[in-house]
Amino acid sequence: RQIHVEALHTGTKPPAFAFVFDIDGVLLQGKKVLPQAKRALALLEGQNPRGIKIPYIFLTNGGGVSESDRCQMLTRQLGFQISPSQYIQGHTIFKTLAHKYSDKTVLVLGGKLDAVRKVAEGYGFRNAYNTIDVLAWNPSVWPYHEVTPAELEVAKRVDLSRTRVSAVFVFHDPRDWALDVQVLCDLIQSDGIIGGPYIPPQQRSQPPIDLYFCNPDLLWRSDFERPRLGQGAFKEAFQAVHKALTGSTYPYVQYGKPTKATYQFAETVLTDRLEEIYGVRHPPRHVYMIGDNPKSDIAGAVAAEWNSVLVQTGVFDPQQGPPSPRPTHIADDVEAAVKWAFDREL
Ligand code: G3P
Ligand code: MG
Repeated sequence: RQIHVEALHTGTKPPAFAFVFDIDGVLLQGKKVLPQAKRALALLEGQNPRGIKIPYIFLTNGGGVSESDRCQMLTRQLGFQISPSQYIQGHTIFKTLAHKYSDKTVLVLGGKLDAVRKVAEGYGFRNAYNTIDVLAWNPSVWPYHEVTPAELEVAKRVDLSRTRVSAVFVFHDPRDWALDVQVLCDLIQSDGIIGGPYIPPQQRSQPPIDLYFCNPDLLWRSDFERPRLGQGAFKEAFQAVHKALTGSTYPYVQYGKPTKATYQFAETVLTDRLEEIYGVRHPPRHVYMIGDNPKSDIAGAVAAEWNSVLVQTGVFDPQQGPPSPRPTHIADDVEAAVKWAFDREL
């Protein structure tokens, strides 16, 4: 991670605290930018009693595009320069796995058209395919999804009857759950060859196909009044079908908030960010995680021994009772959350 040349504040003492922002339900609701979001970031960008820049990063279970593309979008939406060095999304951590599969074939699920396949190739996965590529190769894999001209245009040509898929990475929320569950079950039961014969479990390759998820969110907040089903709901649907077919759920690796691996990764990104701004390398004494989902943002922050502020503009609904786990503080929105932390620190 090279140090970006930006307005470095080397020589000034970094503040003792820093922020980690969740995005959906805190700063954005779908494409809508919450008005409090810009005011909250302005406070951190220097419009505060001390006139100092307070470091912050973003930690979202979202994704579907490259980190740099998302940061360009966030810069436009939030009105401040957002750098990839302060941004972590659900599948960012998959970069650390690309070397393990660089000469293998993997299936990537989720997102629009071929966006996620391009992200995977950008991470170093050299033989990545998606379920539209599968349908373009053999439409009878799932008779209820007619490949659209737009999908056909971006499909990657492959003959999957000759290619063993070694791993499946769920990068973002699948668009056609039925298609993706069907292809996942085909891969598992035919030991990685779609269209191949059923292979009994005891005769399959070892290790079996690796399955990775990067966002356990059952729910998330978009611009609809009620939370929407997230990647975690897709995982439940897949496991329910797999259990009905085989009598057991399928083993998988889970990344994303609130997993420990993701919060440890976030700590290093935050420490890198402090070095980038202040030229010193040490983790901030106090970290404030601001999130909208107790099961995701708050749970991970509590386990990481960070301060946590739960806002009421996202998944959390006080009508459904007190949040579990309990955050350090509950605030109306992200601006109130930042002001509460400032009152404690400045
Ligand atoms: O797909 C994104 C959603 O699951 C949650 O995103 O920003 O609230 O972690 P975020
Ligand atoms: Mg959220």
